[in-house]
Amino acid sequence: MPIETAAPAPPRLFPLHALAAGLDFERYFRWRRARAGDPFYVRFPGFGAVLFTGTPDGARELFRAQANLLEPPRPNPIEPLVGPASLILTSGARHRRDRTLLAPAFHGARIRAYGELIEAATLDEIDGGATSWRPGTRIDSRAVARSITLRVIMEAVFGVRAGERRIAYTAAITEFLTAFSGPLLLAPALRRGAFGRAPWDRFVVAREHLDRLIQADLAERKGTARQDDSDILGLLLSTRYDDGTAPTDAELGDQLRTLLVAGHETTATSLVWALYHLHRAPEALRRLRAELGAAGDSPTDLAGLPYLDAVCQETLRLHPPVPIVLRRVTEPVTLRGVRVPAGDTMGLALPLLHSDPDTWVDAARFRPERFLDRRYGPFELAPYGGGHRRCVGASLADYELRIVLATLLRRVRLALPSRYARGRAPLSVPHNIATGPHRSIPFDVVE
Ligand code: HEM
Repeated sequence: MPIETAAPAPPRLFPLHALAAGLDFERYFRWRRARAGDPFYVRFPGFGAVLFTGTPDGARELFRAQANLLEPPRPNPIEPLVGPASLILTSGARHRRDRTLLAPAFHGARIRAYGELIEAATLDEIDGGATSWRPGTRIDSRAVARSITLRVIMEAVFGVRAGERRIAYTAAITEFLTAFSGPLLLAPALRRGAFGRAPWDRFVVAREHLDRLIQADLAERKGTARQDDSDILGLLLSTRYDDGTAPTDAELGDQLRTLLVAGHETTATSLVWALYHLHRAPEALRRLRAELGAAGDSPTDLAGLPYLDAVCQETLRLHPPVPIVLRRVTEPVTLRGVRVPAGDTMGLALPLLHSDPDTWVDAARFRPERFLDRRYGPFELAPYGGGHRRCVGASLADYELRIVLATLLRRVRLALPSRYARGRAPLSVPHNIATGPHRSIPFDVVE
């Protein structure tokens, strides 16, 4: 039976804390822990006070807590995006059942089948995308990364390859994600309409538009006799629960929107950070280029390269795009000796875990070599969360990061404008489900 210690004090002046977290998420968490120790409370709009830890011991306790005592916090700020049936929001037997339905779509062999698609999406962006990659031009890395990851997710999930359907999906998804801006995420009070003119109205229209596309696709695919499970939608349509029943169209719609929301911005943000750090660390970039130059051409060869792997891990360590992992408890538990009453929420702050001084030497520095010297355990490095809710798309994200980076760096040479090459790193701010650089990071195309 763990010994309980007195609960730390929740922060006062809550609106100022919410503002500080919105302005720089990672720095806010470091500051909170420095003042309050570990574990410590942070308040989020709509959640009340959450008891956070950022240590390996705390991560172990949170990931190993009994799954049947845990559920996602409700109301959840991303519910308007993903919908009530989303895997992210369900718990208990329903969550287990839906994970069994979705997980096969992300297993090894299937993911490897997406290798060429990922490479083609990257080359297409360079050769035929909206951005010009001629030497001397400047590219917006966020726009490029979003465009590539959106294409991958559209093709892998919906089988959308080219033509008008791709144009329609791209426009609908972009509007849907952009319309759910930071203020709507952070301030539930703003989620109401005002004669069609409020940000919420714009979001609702965008969601309805995307849903019409998804439901039309579902109807069309169900109407054809041929079972095509080369994409995730086809796989979901051909799968049944253990009792022989199938998910309803509304449930499928929520899972498909979940995959879009969870799988697009997260991977795009990591790509931007990887390019940014590599171009501020000439030795790391040189070493990676040398490794890529000596490697074979197949996506499987590229995905297995050790230094490329170290670069991707180091990027996710320094900037976990989903920086907090939350669990609401249905019965009292303790977290690092502090009692979490039933109905309260506990959380893991990944930026703290990933800079814990007992695990990481020189944690603030981008130093991929650390992953060649040592292996880190699931309670030391957890960019994909852990336990029974660990990210279902982690293998796809890992594979995608490696292949997009490898393909880009083999094809073009980029440089950071001097202001970005030397100045302070951009702040990390919440956007939809992910946090990322507060402004776009430009690159000059060198060759
Ligand atoms: C770099 C990219 C990504 C990162 C860092 C990331 C991170 C995470 C994290 C931290 C969680 C919460 C885990 C927990 O509660 O323990 C999560 C859950 C989830 N992710 Fe990802 N993710 C990424 C990409 C993707 C992709 C590509 C997909 C699918 C296309 C995806 C789908 C999901 C889903 C469906 C969940 C909910 C799982 C559940 O509650 O059972 N993610 N992700």
